Amino acid sequence: MFQNILFQTPTILFGIDSIQQIGEQARKLGAGKALLISGPQVQKAGVLDKVKSSLDAAKIKVEVNIQDRDTPEPAVEVVEATAKIAKKGKFDVIIGLGGGSILDVSKMAAALVTNPGTTRDYFGREKVPKRGTPTIIVPTTAGTGAEVTKHAIFLDREINVKKVVASSNLLPNVAIVDPVLTMTCPPSVTASSGIDAYIHSAEAFLSKNANAMTDALALESIAIISKWLGPAFADGQNMEARYQMSLGSLMAGVVLNNSGTSLVHAMAYPVGGEHHTPHGVTLSALLIACFDYVAVAKAEKMAALARAMGENIDGLAPREVNERVLDAIHYMIKSVELPASLTDLGIDRAKTDIHQWAVEAHKEQRLLTRSPRTLSVEDIEVIYGNAFD
Ligand SMILES: [Fe+2]
Repeated sequence: MFQNILFQTPTILFGIDSIQQIGEQARKLGAGKALLISGPQVQKAGVLDKVKSSLDAAKIKVEVNIQDRDTPEPAVEVVEATAKIAKKGKFDVIIGLGGGSILDVSKMAAALVTNPGTTRDYFGREKVPKRGTPTIIVPTTAGTGAEVTKHAIFLDREINVKKVVASSNLLPNVAIVDPVLTMTCPPSVTASSGIDAYIHSAEAFLSKNANAMTDALALESIAIISKWLGPAFADGQNMEARYQMSLGSLMAGVVLNNSGTSLVHAMAYPVGGEHHTPHGVTLSALLIACFDYVAVAKAEKMAALARAMGENIDGLAPREVNERVLDAIHYMIKSVELPASLTDLGIDRAKTDIHQWAVEAHKEQRLLTRSPRTLSVEDIEVIYGNAFD
């Protein structure tokens, strides 16, 4: 089959101590003055000082903005406040340093410097007309992929729903991925962001949007994450595990940006919106039920997924291969103490309107059209039901 491929990525710097090149990179983007957006944990961990010293050495003036937040996904109001600061300071470059939320706020605030209106005007696909202030995006967790994607996710408190801005003009100019910065990431965050990365690759790999380039990156990152998530969770000081998880997560982010996620992410939106559970944790609770449902559409890819996860599937029937994949995922999830079902997540089925969730998830057609299996509201309701078992 012949494919037409569009492949987008920022300039990527990956490696141990790659953060030391941030001053030079900011200079290349024309910076005399930078806005550095980060969070209190990053500041405490001493990461902020490393960044500042590299910028100082490059003679770049820095204004630091420390964000505090009370929901796993930032509210749109946080972006508006940050955009105000970004506009007022007339910065040459905006640096986002932190977990996925900080990175999303940084990307969107940069876009709002050159685009009129507010975040709510840009929810949806390709609605941001102009590139914003140039950005350098630096993750301190391994998983969200935000450093290499055109997406930013925010909570709209008026309707209590998480919404996505998906625009090529949000793609960062430079991504700096330094595994050393993830060393202080606590085990629970290592687990939830790591499974998010796994799902970016696995879900995109099974999707209708997959292509030869993203498949290659997806399989390699699935192999890396399946092998190294456990060790990174068990011992945060394991440098090789951190290195591998940062690399796997970066690859998965590129896959996410170019093929996109599907069902698992679509079904996580209503759950996360109602219960404010962290993104990766919510996905983890839905993953097995979702893959169990779509596996029938993609026998060959399920076999490739099994092999990438280290399973020996020689001589197995497709049904057995699917079981192996689901077992391997179940083991991976449980070994890093994540929920394998909505019940594990602590949600009471009796108090849940799963029909309403299914109606909400079905609205995410941007994601669902990529699903290998066509899904009605009723189908999604069945999957939510299975995710409670
Ligand atoms: Fe995700």
